[in-house]
Amino acid sequence: MAIDAKQLMEKLVPEKVRELVRVYLKTFFRHDFDLTGLTKSKIMFSNFLLHIQPVKVHRHSLQFRTTLGLGLIAFYLFLILCVSGILLMFHYVPSDTIGPDGFPVAYQRMLNLRSNIFWGSFLRNMHRWSAHAMVAAVWLHMLRVFFTGAYSRPREFNWLIGCVLGLLTIFMSYTGYLLPWDQLAYWGVKVGTEIARIAPGGAIIRQFLLGDSDVGSEALLRFYVLHVAVLPSVMALLIGMHFWRIRKDGGLAHPETLDEDKLIPVDECGTVKNASAFHSTRSYKLVEVVKGTEPKVDEPVDQMVFAWPKLIVREVVLFMLVLAAVSLVAVWFDAPLEGPANPAQPENPAKAPWYFIGLQELTSYNGFIGGVAIPGALVLLAMIVPYVEIAFGVFMNKKIRGSGVWFSRYRWPQNLVCISVTLLMLYLIIVGSLFRGPNWDFMMPWEVLSGGGH
Ligand code: HEM
Repeated sequence: MAIDAKQLMEKLVPEKVRELVRVYLKTFFRHDFDLTGLTKSKIMFSNFLLHIQPVKVHRHSLQFRTTLGLGLIAFYLFLILCVSGILLMFHYVPSDTIGPDGFPVAYQRMLNLRSNIFWGSFLRNMHRWSAHAMVAAVWLHMLRVFFTGAYSRPREFNWLIGCVLGLLTIFMSYTGYLLPWDQLAYWGVKVGTEIARIAPGGAIIRQFLLGDSDVGSEALLRFYVLHVAVLPSVMALLIGMHFWRIRKDGGLAHPETLDEDKLIPVDECGTVKNASAFHSTRSYKLVEVVKGTEPKVDEPVDQMVFAWPKLIVREVVLFMLVLAAVSLVAVWFDAPLEGPANPAQPENPAKAPWYFIGLQELTSYNGFIGGVAIPGALVLLAMIVPYVEIAFGVFMNKKIRGSGVWFSRYRWPQNLVCISVTLLMLYLIIVGSLFRGPNWDFMMPWEVLSGGGH
């Protein structure tokens, strides 16, 4: 006769010991481990790490194609950056003083990480590649939100928070770029701060950032403090607000419910204990008090499924994939490190990091228009897009539809503008990175790679 694990345990372990283990476990977990609705709810709201998420989510939110996981990927990269960054801080010193081996101290620390420190190279690579990946993930996430019309009512304010987060991500990556204090870092940052000079008030911002008239020891210290303390704290706060707003805005944007969507399989609803006659429009309030299969209360509720375990499993799997991908890249590819920073020997061409290189390319046509007017207008336009839509709705007495749907036909003008701007940005980045050589002359990528670019 087959005997299951529970029965075997009952046979082998005395009742008192089992009771003790149960009590010990209860000190950590205040819930059972079955799959009833009550347990699924309790797991979510009695666990510190899980309770910021809702007990139930719209089933559309669980589909990969809804978000492509991009917001979460950006968040996981932020976490990886914080952990790897703290570990790097145990070794790094933000100083350009020449040390005993004839190199600036900050640069010498990079050399140590590469050769003398256990796992140092891996850590540095991981940090560097995650930073680049985060800039890309945030950009793609922003595009996904735009193309699914998820910035519209009631998510306008969260879109604004997102815009600030996007700018901070770039600034975070940029401040970190200087820290290795090699030629690439020095001249890359120098180019960026020269662009800032052209903007109205840019000279003051530049002076504030550099703490001096040029990139030097003061700038290194300021960039370091911004990079390791100020920006991560502000970002952590804003990410918290961003997530909180997602809940307050009713979860992720989703298409209007169609008739054929209305029925959800019973196993998604779960069974619940404890009878009561309380009524609520939110089914997860009911799960604690009703008996039997969780009731269908209204149509939107029909579309809600328990976050435990489906959402949480997806989140954990995605985290492991991101960690594995970043680790593999860090093992295979070394983060660049050129010769020590030398203010007297300019790089030709001195190229900004890729996310600024489009700006640098634009600036090469016209300093003010390319470096300030166009990017400023684009950032402003991105921020006010949902508010322009609201105004349009009020004046034209028209509701803009298609929120939660990829490339909705109701939003083709907005999508067309966004696609055109994105293609233009990609074009500028590709030309700036691959087709510009010494003196910013146009040349073929193989000529650039064999001589000029970095
Ligand atoms: C540090 C940067 C950011 C992080 C960590 C982050 C994280 C997230 C996450 C995890 C979500 C849930 C859905 C998803 O995974 O896509 C989300 C949704 C959202 N994000 Fe972000 N985000 C960031 C930047 C941005 C930016 C730059 C924008 C836009 C300018 C933005 C606007 C939004 C909006 C409007 C939603 C709600 C979307 C919906 O309802 O479908 N976020 N974000």
